[in-house]
Amino acid sequence: MDNNGKNENNANNENNNNKNNNNNNNNNNNNNNNNKGSDMYPPTQKVIERANIKDWDRELKKGEDIETYWASQADQFDWFKRWDKVLDTSEKPFYKWFVGGKINLAHNALDRWINSEKRNKIAILYTNERGDEIKLTYYELYREVNKMANALINLGIKKGDSVSMYLPMCPELIITMLACTKIGAIHSAIYSGLSSVAIMERINAVRSKVLITADGTYRRGKIINLKTPVDEAMLQCPTIQTVVLVNHTGRYNDIAELRGNEIFYDRLIEGEGDTCHSEPMDSEDPLFILYTSGSTGKPKGVIHTTAGYMVGIATTLRNVFDIHDDDLWWSTGDAGWITGHSYTIYAPLLLGSTTLIYEGAPDFPDPGIWWEIIERYGVTKFYTAPTAIRHLMRFGKKYSKLYDLNSLKILGSVGEPINYEAWKWMYEEIGGSKTPIMDTWWQTETGMHMIASLPVSNLKPGSATKPLPGVKIAIVDEEGQEVERGKKGYLAITEPWPAMFRGLYEDNERFKDVYWNFFPNNIYKTGDMAKMDEDGYIWIQGRSDDVLKIAGHRVGAIEVEEAFNSHPSVNETAVIGKEDPVKGQLIKAFLILNEGYNLDMPFKEGYQSTLREELKRHVRHALGPVAVLGEMVSVDSLPKTKSGKIMRRILKAKEDGEDLGDTSTLDDL
Ligand code: WTA
Repeated sequence: MDNNGKNENNANNENNNNKNNNNNNNNNNNNNNNNKGSDMYPPTQKVIERANIKDWDRELKKGEDIETYWASQADQFDWFKRWDKVLDTSEKPFYKWFVGGKINLAHNALDRWINSEKRNKIAILYTNERGDEIKLTYYELYREVNKMANALINLGIKKGDSVSMYLPMCPELIITMLACTKIGAIHSAIYSGLSSVAIMERINAVRSKVLITADGTYRRGKIINLKTPVDEAMLQCPTIQTVVLVNHTGRYNDIAELRGNEIFYDRLIEGEGDTCHSEPMDSEDPLFILYTSGSTGKPKGVIHTTAGYMVGIATTLRNVFDIHDDDLWWSTGDAGWITGHSYTIYAPLLLGSTTLIYEGAPDFPDPGIWWEIIERYGVTKFYTAPTAIRHLMRFGKKYSKLYDLNSLKILGSVGEPINYEAWKWMYEEIGGSKTPIMDTWWQTETGMHMIASLPVSNLKPGSATKPLPGVKIAIVDEEGQEVERGKKGYLAITEPWPAMFRGLYEDNERFKDVYWNFFPNNIYKTGDMAKMDEDGYIWIQGRSDDVLKIAGHRVGAIEVEEAFNSHPSVNETAVIGKEDPVKGQLIKAFLILNEGYNLDMPFKEGYQSTLREELKRHVRHALGPVAVLGEMVSVDSLPKTKSGKIMRRILKAKEDGEDLGDTSTLDDL
């Protein structure tokens, strides 16, 4: 079987020599895809035979008229009231989609299926690193969601209220998200790796009355305590009236251990009815808020609304991963981030698929755990991040070879550019040279895949290929004008798309300034740089702003600098992303320390640990484990513009041994 795939590929691949060229490119620098664009992987016959969409070019053509295209996709859902107008551009950049429509996400993800042949199909298949397993059919999930929805109503939650969640990847997280959407509450999920400060800030920003959390999460054989950061945060969260606690790891024996405003999840839903009315939501009613890092200041609350988001994510998942009824879908994206929202949870349920939810690390009990899970359940579509692949690649073929991965039909990559070595390893070792890899470029803000191939596309490793049907993208200069093919420019989105975010929570000015007012023609600025090759394939060239991508997570340089600066030993900090072969980037911090401090001194008199270690702890406490510190150096000065802004670009260019570029604004005094 493997051989068939390989032969087919070789037969179709006229230019195999180019692979050798690429092999010489051992550089894992993600921004440096030296692929010349000729290393082409055509689809295998098997993929073509099975594909719902057989003709890439024709599908792209269909997407040229965006309104007609997306309206035809919107018909897949059960609407309470059909829309009057597909797209309203009268208040740019506050675009509106499916204006006048009434719809509910939970109704379409659950209620719609329970009267169909999918009623007893597994909706969620949960497993974890301990091998525990929970399966919920569509009918079971529907009932659980209804109970939680009724419980939330009883807690006083109404349409438009926000509900915060700080939960690991467990069924209750999905149930809570869907329960919110059922009653029209806006959920705000906080990634369970974030710190008490982040929890507090995110809850206070949206003034949630209820927080749903858990006692802990399983990670590398340990139970990580989630309750302590919550307790710390709760000291400064005045709006929270009720904390709902999932006794996930069984840390709590008795109700007596709870505080006054805390209630166990199981107790909360006990006796609740298992039917609940789905609130008819306006197409443009907010669905959720999700915080993400930007290039300025604090993380921003990205707002997604109902109908366009549903249409965008369901269409892209179905097309990009060629979803069929017998698929077992596994996206490793945590529900605390956009990949988890869009593609681990919502889109597969909207398509009536089975989605696998995994809690734990990719390398525990050993680095074969993911492959073992694929074999155990017969996963057919597997979507993950390059950083995880690079990590698992380090263990060689030893683990992947132990398992039968033949059930896999399509693989996917998200979050950062996938370098050639990782692509090839994934393609050959995991996919047996027969499964195409869908490299998907998108953002928290876009909500859905924007640049990605279809299974029948010709692939070039390292390129997410072309904009999807119904998506319009250009690579432009500072004036917003398209640059020549082959030239690096800003990646911009030139037309609205249905799953686009509708704003930043209570910050319309920042929304306009950061994303829409950068180019004079007010097209959307993604923050990425890119090139387009002669075949129209797009190659991402890294960020144009001060956002780092650490193990696929977005971290703002300024957030990290502020965390350092809040320590009494630090006067000023500049932070850049330093390339790392596994995590893509790590933080490198240049610190101006206050008088009398050095990084290697004991951080306090009589203590063994150094200031360096203390600062690491300090930053981790502020930002959580996503802020992975690579290096810290103490410096006497930082390069600044004449107006006093730190020029991180200069530090970065020096670090990477590159030309310093235009330094005319550098203050040389
Ligand atoms: C980067 C994650 C190259 C990019 C879904 C983008 C990628 C940012 C890719 C958004 C990809 C995401 N190839 N770069 N396939 N996917 N990125 O909001 O810099 O966490 O702007 O969303 O990740 O990160 P976010």
